[in-house]
Amino acid sequence: MFTNDTLAGKNILVTGGGSGLGLAMAKTFATLGARVAICGRREEKLQQAVAEIGHEAIYEVCDVRDSQAVEAMFSSLEARIGTVNGLVNNAAGNFLAASEDLSDNAFNAVIDIVLKGSFHCTRAFGKRLIDKKEQGGVVLNIVTTYTESGSAFVLPSACAKAGVYAMTTSLAMEWATYGIRLNAIAPGPFPTEGAWSRLLPDKSIEEKYLKRIPAGRYGQHEELGWLATFLMSDMSAYITGECVTIDGGERLQAGQFNLFANMYPREQLKAFFGMIKGKGK
Ligand code: HXC
Ligand code: NAP
Repeated sequence: MFTNDTLAGKNILVTGGGSGLGLAMAKTFATLGARVAICGRREEKLQQAVAEIGHEAIYEVCDVRDSQAVEAMFSSLEARIGTVNGLVNNAAGNFLAASEDLSDNAFNAVIDIVLKGSFHCTRAFGKRLIDKKEQGGVVLNIVTTYTESGSAFVLPSACAKAGVYAMTTSLAMEWATYGIRLNAIAPGPFPTEGAWSRLLPDKSIEEKYLKRIPAGRYGQHEELGWLATFLMSDMSAYITGECVTIDGGERLQAGQFNLFANMYPREQLKAFFGMIKGKGK
């Protein structure tokens, strides 16, 4: 489906591209012809990441919470690689906590990175393209599957990601006239050090968690990379304001009897259905 020039002509900034899913997407984009830039707060991590990405990838040390730093980063990138015409808002912060115990700082820490950081980058990105009257910008926001449903114990993240989703649909409408598309991806569980150390740090919890996923496995990083590539490429030129879920069916857990699906081996389950057949007569 993709060739090594699928993303030719795209200068793509991946925020938080120094690790985890951001790094995976950056690698895929670079392999498929994009000029890639990544940013994050820790320089050593970024240095290692660009070496891993190759293809002349570059980095900027930038804390997306700081709007002036974000403006400076976009100016610097423009001088280094030309106008940034692709942006992936991937940088995030998250942790498990009972919401009644959250301090102001704890709530703000996540909102500032996820919601305000995405706004700072998106504004800096859009303003430059609009001022230059350059057509063809694309933004991809990495949200979560609890953006719509909400989720216990990750309240700041759920609020922030819902805001990012609202930004996606709002600006898809507002900036279509400038040729700027905005879409989102809602990943299910994709093992990364950043997410797992904070959200699934215990093996026994992880085993229970895995049972929730109809596909019976976690996502693989390249699977996200391919979806992200499609949405960043001109192959998806008519798609905007959309959120695509990639979660092995995890979001479908709401169906009341879905819990049986992965609870017992299928033959055992069928035997049980057989036993109760006719009991309701
Ligand atoms: C309660 C916490 C906390 C915790 C921090 N705080 N961790 N409160 N429970 N586990 C509080 C602190 O006490 C402090 O409040 C405030 O938050 C700020 O903490 P700092 O450590 O000073 O913040 P900072 O250095 O800015 O770090 C931000 C962070 C950190 C979000 C807290 O975790 C981080 O840098 N994360 C980046 C990477 C990350 O989170 N990746 C996971 C993404 S996974 P006080 O009041 O004490 O000052 C994801 C979706 C996964 O997003 C979905 C999976 C299926
Ligand atoms: P990760 O490795 O912890 O990635 C987060 C990245 O964001 C890090 O590289 C971090 O680098 C950077 N970052 C954090 N705060 C920043 C700031 N203020 N400014 C700039 N960069 C900052 O976690 P991940 O699992 O790959 O998550 C990537 C994205 O996928 C996030 O949006 C997350 O919400 C989403 N997601 C992940 C999963 C999953 O299963 N992994 C599921 C659903 C959604 P520094 O700390 O060096 O700044």
